[in-house]
Amino acid sequence: MKTALVLRIHPEPSSFTGAWADASAAALEAAGYEVLHSDPHLGSFDPALRREQYPDHQGPFDPLKVTESAPMPPEVATEVDQLLAADLLVIHFPMWWFGPPAMLKGWLDRVLVHGLVHDVDRRFDTGVCRGKKVLFCVSTGSRESESGPDGKEGNFRLLLWPLAYAFRYCGFDVLEPLSVHGVHGYHRGARLTALHDRLRDVLATQAEVIANLGARPAWAFNADTDFDETGRLKPGAPSHSPFIRRG
Ligand SMILES: Cc1cc2nc3c(=O)[nH]c(=O)nc-3n(C[C@H](O)[C@H](O)[C@H](O)COP(=O)(O)O)c2cc1C
Repeated sequence: MKTALVLRIHPEPSSFTGAWADASAAALEAAGYEVLHSDPHLGSFDPALRREQYPDHQGPFDPLKVTESAPMPPEVATEVDQLLAADLLVIHFPMWWFGPPAMLKGWLDRVLVHGLVHDVDRRFDTGVCRGKKVLFCVSTGSRESESGPDGKEGNFRLLLWPLAYAFRYCGFDVLEPLSVHGVHGYHRGARLTALHDRLRDVLATQAEVIANLGARPAWAFNADTDFDETGRLKPGAPSHSPFIRRG
């Protein structure tokens, strides 16, 4: 049986993000997955990595290596165990200030621990998490027209790129993200009704999306062999993003 971890990043369970995560969890169960849940906003998960979280650590605090010398805090150990057990990670979050909420960034900082989830000798194509997949389900307040490459709110895919690359670094296949745009509470009257209808459709079709995950394309990244020994893109290697390009 395959295992999926649904990571819900939102302070309000009854929000659209919360309901969408619930729809994913139900669809994953219906598709035969064992479903694990992570809801860091509901507990006391501190997104800031701090020295005090490792009271047994002696000497200068190296956040990268601390898990080699001191036990992980229980809330981190739980998240790491669930992540390592999962074949598929589904992350639901809203776009906040042109990036993921601080809780998700902090979850990465604390949970993608060196030695267990990534390793200096096992990164990218040989990453520790090879074979695992991650799917981002993202809502934005901006409209779809504003979220494209020429949109006023910035290219949505570029805003997500650093997050995607963190998972790529760990060896994940990053599936093409799902997005729902124009989600906000400022609409009134017919516009509000139209928004609610649209969101209801998203929730209703999530089962179909999950059932077809096997056919969902993966986000394209450069292979390790596209870079020379100094870590620069080789002549002739493709560029998949303005983040890694020549010139
Ligand atoms: C702190 C904060 C920052 C936000 N920043 C953005 C943003 O940069 N881009 C955007 O499109 N929407 C932004 N929004 C709107 C949210 O993306 C939108 O409210 C959310 O996707 C709606 O989903 P929800 O009902 O599940 O919260 C922001 C909202 C908040 C609360």
